[in-house]
Amino acid sequence: MTDVGIDAAEFRSGKLKLDLAETFADEKDDDPAKYTKGLGLHASSFPDAYEDIVTMAANAAKRLMDRKGLAPEDIGRIDVATESAFDHSKPVSTYVAGCLEQVYDGDFHHANKGERKFACIAGTQSIDDAVNWIAAGKNRGRAALVIATDTALYERGDPGEATQGAGAVAMLIDEDPDLTVIEPEQGFGSADETDFLKPNQQFPSVDGKRSMQVYLMRMREALEDFEMQTPTHPDDFALVPFHTPFPGMVRKAAALGYRHVARDTDVEEELAEEIGRQPRPEAFDDEEAYRDALKEYTDKLTETDLYSEWYSRTIEPTLEVSAQVGNWYTGSVHVARIGGLKHARENGIDLDNEQLLVCSYGSGAQAEIHAETVQPGWEDEIAALNIDDQLVERYDISWEQYEQIHDVHNHDESTDIDAYTTPEGEFVFDGWGRMGERK
Ligand code: CAA
Repeated sequence: MTDVGIDAAEFRSGKLKLDLAETFADEKDDDPAKYTKGLGLHASSFPDAYEDIVTMAANAAKRLMDRKGLAPEDIGRIDVATESAFDHSKPVSTYVAGCLEQVYDGDFHHANKGERKFACIAGTQSIDDAVNWIAAGKNRGRAALVIATDTALYERGDPGEATQGAGAVAMLIDEDPDLTVIEPEQGFGSADETDFLKPNQQFPSVDGKRSMQVYLMRMREALEDFEMQTPTHPDDFALVPFHTPFPGMVRKAAALGYRHVARDTDVEEELAEEIGRQPRPEAFDDEEAYRDALKEYTDKLTETDLYSEWYSRTIEPTLEVSAQVGNWYTGSVHVARIGGLKHARENGIDLDNEQLLVCSYGSGAQAEIHAETVQPGWEDEIAALNIDDQLVERYDISWEQYEQIHDVHNHDESTDIDAYTTPEGEFVFDGWGRMGERK
């Protein structure tokens, strides 16, 4: 079978920045280390007044199409993943296609358009759909455009407020891709959960602490399911991008994953001398005692040189961009993948044919784990991104400006503010009915 995967990706951040260590911590009268060290976040990206999920998605898609020299006729499918949709009928992909049709010859009449929803995992599910469509031979030589776009906002005062963010990641899924091949094995962990939901409401209802437990439980199940198909070893993977609502969450998930994958390998042997062997369930009378023993083992594990070296090689690089932009919901795991590859390129790390273990998650709740093989074209693809420029150029908002922009994106009709930045050759939100005009 032909290799199918991610041929190219584009990153589009909201054009405003809220600094967590200074502006946010100062307003909340908190120790900045709670955010920078505890959550692992330094800043959040926010959309300016003329940006929304459609404009961010369309701007990312346009840059991707221009860079790859594509016309609408080259794309047979547009899937948008989002949990910030404003229309319960028309998929966001139709709005995005409408924007793109203003600037290209030709149109997307032939393209199948859809919208995927399963909280933050929907971006990965859209990639899976596109890969399956191509693998089934239905694409007639065309590629799929997958865009993960969100404004991840919480109610003001909610504990989740520190983890907000906004941006889009556009990805081209095609045969013989330049970035990564998506390998066929997948592991899933899925259950009906109610720790994070938005039933007909703008902001999510969240039980933050419980949501972290659910994330870890589903991720462990997905890993078990994945390992049943492909036994793994911690050193099999050059990078392990996780869904990153905030880096502190990934810190916990990574330790759990490493412990799991290291079982019955030479790594467990090596660790045994230092911290003993991993507890096995059969050695305990009840589940709680087993859980306590596992926690004790994991705490010791994270202090070992072996684990620290693995963590700084495979996990830390994937958190560098995420720590500067906050949670992008559906885009988050794709920011982690791009961030890890960007770090490797900048540090001269050769990833040709190396494996990534991509760990996606969506509240509600489902985790998916799959492997990807990095392709020889990856460095050129990553070099073409302008992530640093976008991050540096963000306008640093004050607390008062943050409150206003938060109201604007909460569709507060009474708030009418001027934008803080100036659009330049991009799609802008210019009021309902005129959405996506290009300025
Ligand atoms: N110095 C260093 N560290 C500090 C500190 C200081 N001065 N003060 C606090 N910390 C640490 C805490 O110890 C904690 O770390 P540990 O969990 O490792 O102990 C961390 O900083 C956060 O502190 P709190 O737990 O006190 O933070 P909080 O209760 O105010 O908020 C949260 C945390 C509940 C996760 C909140 O951010 C939240 O509700 N977020 C939204 C939900 C979410 O993101 N859940 C993640 C899983 S669900 C998912 O992934 C889907 C999704 O995208 C939403």
